[in-house]
Amino acid sequence: DVNRVESEMQLIVDGKRLDGRAFDELRPIKIKVGVLKRADGSCYLEMGRNKVVAAVYGPREVHPRHLQDPVQAVVRYRYNMAPFSVEERKRPGPDRRSVEISKVSREAIEAVVMKELFPRSGIDVFVEVLQADAGSRTACLNAASVALVDAGVPMRGMISSVAVAKVDDVLVLDPMKEEDNYGQADIPFAFFIRNDKIESIALLQMDGRVSTDEFKQALEMAKKGAMEIYKMQKEAIKAKYVVEQEEEVDES
Ligand code: CDP
Repeated sequence: DVNRVESEMQLIVDGKRLDGRAFDELRPIKIKVGVLKRADGSCYLEMGRNKVVAAVYGPREVHPRHLQDPVQAVVRYRYNMAPFSVEERKRPGPDRRSVEISKVSREAIEAVVMKELFPRSGIDVFVEVLQADAGSRTACLNAASVALVDAGVPMRGMISSVAVAKVDDVLVLDPMKEEDNYGQADIPFAFFIRNDKIESIALLQMDGRVSTDEFKQALEMAKKGAMEIYKMQKEAIKAKYVVEQEEEVDES
């Protein structure tokens, strides 16, 4: 968080986090698949107080045409914060932060999308942050990954994303705003998960400072958290498609 400040704010009180969570506990997650009619795939996701919507369009023709790639699909990813998503009104439009987040998130998504199947076409991923509370880039990636599945885009696996922070000299999973703002380090991760196993790291960023041992612990903590998120992503997808299939059977 660029707004990180050194402060005396105590973030761990009596061995507990401010919101009562255990150190390795995620915030509550809610996932709804297929919330937008016009998009080919979509997802609404809450991760704690983050609320985001992802919309996927494509594979479709790329405009302007000079952006086409003759051998594979072009993936575009736009992370955007609504002006009302944060405490102090966010000026609409791209800024350095959102351009950076869009770039690293696109690279994470490109690790799973089978671009080679769609030469000359484009796959557009739009993610809107309606309410932000730290870790919005991770919430957006989780939503984008589900929306891609909803769009029927062939993928090698899923992206599941979560951050780890260091606060009051301990590592905590999925930091919320206070922990991100007043903590000692923030490390967002995204993992490429294939066949129910973590295959590789698709995104890794860090600000602040941790020891190499702490980093190894943070990685383990993030992997466990990401696997929990992955299960919820799968459940949400099943909840849409299994129910729809059953309804089809009922009608016939
Ligand atoms: O959201 P994420 O942790 O991925 O990104 P960040 O740059 O570490 O921002 C952390 C948090 O700061 C965001 O989730 C917002 O709650 C807040 N923020 C803000 O209040 N105003 C901004 N212009 C940008 C971020």
